[in-house]
Amino acid sequence: MKEKTVYVCSECGYQSVRWLGRCPECGKWNTFIEEVNLKTKVNKGEVIPPKKITEVKTEKQPRVKTKIGEFDRVLGGGVVVGSFILIAGHPGVGKSTLLLTISGIISKEGRKVLYVSGEESESQIKLRCERLKINSDNLYLLASTDVYSIKNALEKLKPEFLIVDSIQTVYNSEIPTTPGSVTQVKENANFLFNYTKKENISTFIIGHITKEGAIAGPKLLEHMVDVVIYFEGETKSNLRILRAIKNRFGPTDEIGVFSMEEIGLKEIPDASAIFLPEFRKTLPGAVFFPSQEGKRTIIVEIQSLITPTYYGIPKRAVTGLDYNRVSLVLAVLEKKLNFNFSTYDVFVNVGGGFKITETASDLPVAISCVSSLKDIPPCEDTVFIGEIALTGEIRPVSQINSRIKECARLGFKKAIIPEGNIKESKKTKEMEIIGVKWLKDCISIALSL
Ligand SMILES: Nc1ncnc2c1ncn2[C@@H]1O[C@H](COP(=O)(O)OP(=O)(O)O)[C@@H](O)[C@H]1O
Ligand SMILES: [Mg+2]
Ligand SMILES: [Zn+2]
Repeated sequence: MKEKTVYVCSECGYQSVRWLGRCPECGKWNTFIEEVNLKTKVNKGEVIPPKKITEVKTEKQPRVKTKIGEFDRVLGGGVVVGSFILIAGHPGVGKSTLLLTISGIISKEGRKVLYVSGEESESQIKLRCERLKINSDNLYLLASTDVYSIKNALEKLKPEFLIVDSIQTVYNSEIPTTPGSVTQVKENANFLFNYTKKENISTFIIGHITKEGAIAGPKLLEHMVDVVIYFEGETKSNLRILRAIKNRFGPTDEIGVFSMEEIGLKEIPDASAIFLPEFRKTLPGAVFFPSQEGKRTIIVEIQSLITPTYYGIPKRAVTGLDYNRVSLVLAVLEKKLNFNFSTYDVFVNVGGGFKITETASDLPVAISCVSSLKDIPPCEDTVFIGEIALTGEIRPVSQINSRIKECARLGFKKAIIPEGNIKESKKTKEMEIIGVKWLKDCISIALSL
């Protein structure tokens, strides 16, 4: 086999014969690294006759519950037997803790679990197990990075569950690149995938998210796996969120909420108010928004700070929201309502480190920005919901009633919602509901402008 070098994008795996500054596939800069091109054998393939759809039998895919409700919810009701799952997150977020905890529960129920770690020694893992109160005769540890020793252990042990912590540490000595390189990660993940499918076991691989560079990002693996789950959290806070971004066996809009404690991860099933400040005050720039994550409503505070620009180009800093979405809202406010942000720095933030992934937050973002610009607090005990169109019109959003219900439960008195949602909204005596059709009308109601 003749080895040739090839340049590979460490983010998405795109290959090129030449080094490129920017990846044409994923658009990232400086991600190309030189690797060895492995020639794959040409496979003639088996002869499998296609079946008529009427002859295909359906089987309900069995699921194993991990009994961690927040985790099962994100997976769509437990682990589908035979699935290959990627858990990605920044170092220190709690990936090992989560999967060791799950290994403990599953093995306690009599299922054989193999936990492979290339990150820690056996005794380090044992110490962690003691701290997390995990102990089971069916939980096996293998501290190794060698893909062949993993293979041998799998063949000998025949586990039902396999955890690989982390995919970036797995190494195949026959591939002439370093652990964590694109080729290593791809080939080793491929081996684990094939084993998972052949033996119908359930496999979790942990992937570290790192800064661009020599280590292959989990993006590379996303198309290969059945389920991609991101484990997110801020270092300052002990709140952790699990989010499925791909799921062949379930929805991708459910989140799981945890808090990282000394004794391990604690579930937070009642998370609707977890991101809210303890004392809800009415302040300029602070606007409340009920965000919908699957079946669950999470109420957050959107905060803006608009200050005059003194040097050069005005700054725009956005955290917890889509930057482009916030830019769109500012553009509509400028063009349609004549608010001028061009000589101001704009900071927009979601309280508590929550990430909003829907467009229903457009309206609260707009109100927050104008409220800070004019230094006028929004009306008291009010939540705002609505998508903003380029015309300045307020568009309806999904699941209006579950949002309103949760806001009422937490003591909010007024909801300003899209006119288009009024018909379906259920009237309650605790909550005054106002429908708005245009952003302009909403601003005059909210800020008396
Ligand atoms: N000995 C310990 N005592 C208390 N908390 C710990 C200990 N070790 C780790 N942790 C907590 O667990 C977190 C790391 O979790 P871990 O599962 O190792 O993360 P990851 O595998 O994602 O890198 C730390 O940020 C810390 O909060
Ligand atoms: Mg770890
Ligand atoms: Zn790329």
